[in-house]
Amino acid sequence: MTSKSERIGWLGAMAAGIVALGVSLAAHGAIVSGQPNGQPRGGNYKLGLPDLDKQLSLSMTQSLSTRQILPGQATNVMVYSGRVLSGSPDGLGAPIPGSYLGPTIEVQQGWSVSINMKNELGVPSVTHWHGLDVPDTMDGHPRFAIPSGGTYQYKFKVLNRAGTYWYHPHPDMQTGTQVLNGLAGLFIVHDEEEARLNLPSGKYDVPVVIQDRNFDSANQFLNNPNGIDGLLASTVLVNGKANYEHSCSTSVYRVRLLNGSHSRIYKLAFTDGTPLTVIGSDGGLLAQPIVYPYIMLSPGERVELWLDLRGKTLGTKSTLRSSSFAGAGGAQGVATLDIMNFSIDYPGEPDSRVLPTNLSEIQVYRLQDAVNVNTPKTYAITRVNGVGYLLNGAVFDMLGTSANEVATCGTLEVITITNTTSSPNVAHPIHFHGRQFQILDRTTAPSGVAGWNNVKDGVQDTGWKDTFMIMPQQTVRLLVRHGKYPGLYNWHCHNLVHEDMGMMRNFRLQP
Ligand code: C2O
Ligand code: CU
Ligand code: CU
Repeated sequence: MTSKSERIGWLGAMAAGIVALGVSLAAHGAIVSGQPNGQPRGGNYKLGLPDLDKQLSLSMTQSLSTRQILPGQATNVMVYSGRVLSGSPDGLGAPIPGSYLGPTIEVQQGWSVSINMKNELGVPSVTHWHGLDVPDTMDGHPRFAIPSGGTYQYKFKVLNRAGTYWYHPHPDMQTGTQVLNGLAGLFIVHDEEEARLNLPSGKYDVPVVIQDRNFDSANQFLNNPNGIDGLLASTVLVNGKANYEHSCSTSVYRVRLLNGSHSRIYKLAFTDGTPLTVIGSDGGLLAQPIVYPYIMLSPGERVELWLDLRGKTLGTKSTLRSSSFAGAGGAQGVATLDIMNFSIDYPGEPDSRVLPTNLSEIQVYRLQDAVNVNTPKTYAITRVNGVGYLLNGAVFDMLGTSANEVATCGTLEVITITNTTSSPNVAHPIHFHGRQFQILDRTTAPSGVAGWNNVKDGVQDTGWKDTFMIMPQQTVRLLVRHGKYPGLYNWHCHNLVHEDMGMMRNFRLQP
């Protein structure tokens, strides 16, 4: 359990920690991992992976390495690497050449997955499967962090529907540092409902993991956050690369966007007006595609795009840009940043595919069906000077929950989050482990309306969510169907700096 005073000293301690890490990384030298020269993602399959005895067994390692990110000196990084022990050989994609990102895990719904995870980082760690519904001992709760040299055996059945999930470390107060150093990867689930749509696949299914980083003069990652904004860095990396360009043909692509940044919220659009046709969100496909004028993507959130480049002129580029916006508080939204280019380099094969009008079946939850319809659980975001932002009035407590952070497995509840009192008031990406939920509604107090108007047309609130952005002066109501596994699950702000400062709580599910 961490006391408040320990939390208060956190920023200083972290600054010391990164120095120590730099030393140990330098002493460690490079580790070569995984299979070289792979494609960004493994499969050549057309309709998802075969049901190869419905299981996937992986051996994975977290270790120290280096990557050439900027010209000049290589950057010390922490990486996930791995190999398939049994099951589909395409269950673990080849690493993106030169990227620090971990290999993409790719499975069918219903598979049993086991991952033997070895920690060779020199510091404790544990891995969380963001968005997946797994038993609490498999969820990467900080209480299960293992020391360097240790191994954790993750084993779970994939209950989730097709979608773009991801994995990253989750040790208490060190999640940000470890993600900053490179530890993260995608976890893609396929299912039969998705397969029937015949969406673009293989090389037409493109992951775009957006992260921002600051570098020091020796090209090393700089961990220089503040307690209000978190870490807003100036260099955008996509899939671990600066100035990212994806070479395309005049074809249709499925683009999976993940905001894997610490703190930065993006306001995304194409500079040439290419439509942003969203087909999926955190928890997979939407019921129907929705075209947005721009997309707000806060840390931890995902959207999937149907990107139709068939009408493009060869030799042109479509630039995905994050525009500045006001209203999210602090320095959030001040910068305009180019994210990446889709470079239209060669003619596509004839392709007559059409955007499906119906994508998936989503059972819409109703407020009147919630077991606590008259007594909503209400959690306030507040701030205490010298401590940081709090959820439900308290900092993270390793094993503790408050009386209002307990529920029965399988029940549908309404949960109200308020962001109306803290000063300074900033936007936060709020994330619940272990279940996908629906957003019932948002209410914005008069003083927040102008800010909300800057972002509201790009906030993707339909479909299944596990992370959502709450703006200053806002109240958001969620309808949450609690999972079937009892235990202790985290919920927290996915601004990793806020999370590590204690903006995280436990939620206990009882049988
Ligand atoms: Cu990606 Cu606890 O979260
Ligand atoms: Cu999570
Ligand atoms: Cu926050």
